[in-house]
Amino acid sequence: MSRTGESSLGRRRKLARGLVFDSGVGGLSVTEAIRARMPELHLDYVADDAFRPYGNKTPAELNARLPELLSILSDMLGSDFIVLACNTASTTALPSIRAELSLPVIGVVPAIKPAAAASQTRHIGVLGTPGTVKRAYVDRLIRDFAQGCRVSLKGSVALVDAAERKLSGGPLDKTLLAAELSEFQNQTPPIDHIVMACTHFPLLKDELSQIMEDVTWVDSGAAIARRVEAILQDAKLSPAAQSRAQLAFTTGTDLRDERRALFRRRGFERLLSLSA
Ligand code: DGL
Repeated sequence: MSRTGESSLGRRRKLARGLVFDSGVGGLSVTEAIRARMPELHLDYVADDAFRPYGNKTPAELNARLPELLSILSDMLGSDFIVLACNTASTTALPSIRAELSLPVIGVVPAIKPAAAASQTRHIGVLGTPGTVKRAYVDRLIRDFAQGCRVSLKGSVALVDAAERKLSGGPLDKTLLAAELSEFQNQTPPIDHIVMACTHFPLLKDELSQIMEDVTWVDSGAAIARRVEAILQDAKLSPAAQSRAQLAFTTGTDLRDERRALFRRRGFERLLSLSA
């Protein structure tokens, strides 16, 4: 079955299909930004729940898993591009994934550059997973884009779990959230921008900003959405709606009603398990 639609120029363009991939629900924060920009774009979603969290995995473990997994998934779904909606994977395995696949792979870069540029106090925080905050990739971003700015790094696995729990309707432990932010508080000079360098964390933004009210919380969602749009234009792909349902998959087994509802609310008609 062919997938074509009218472009604004009247020529037929292939309808784009994207795959958003993360270790869990974090990629939904990126999905939201993409949908805000291109509401009709066809997206499928894969949560690698069986291997989550990525934040405490070694680069060797991620590099051994992700290129092959993404190659199989994108073939299975007929994807035209992949959004690797995960800072941990992007800062670790993007080169090996790109070497394996012939389609565009859009990674997530921690938004250190805009945060450093906007900081008045010249002190920013970077809140990522333990893996992301110790990657050489992040050191390079700091060296290249945060000159003259103090950068405090904090890695947290607990916040990834908290975001997963919140989205599945579970209780949120506000004391735990506050404890995870304690290193950023009462600093001299004060931190005025915090980079959410994990896609799970924008899902906790309401709660985090209640704990540190005077901080600007920065994420990469809108920048990724712009990048996706540019890639579609280059590849002459249309972001128009198509008849096939948008699907979400988990490599795990959690198909409880609240998980299905969570994905359905974000435009994914069904949640299916890839686990045998
Ligand atoms: N959401 C992911 C990230 O951006 C990974 C979280 C995890 O599995 O540790 O880093």
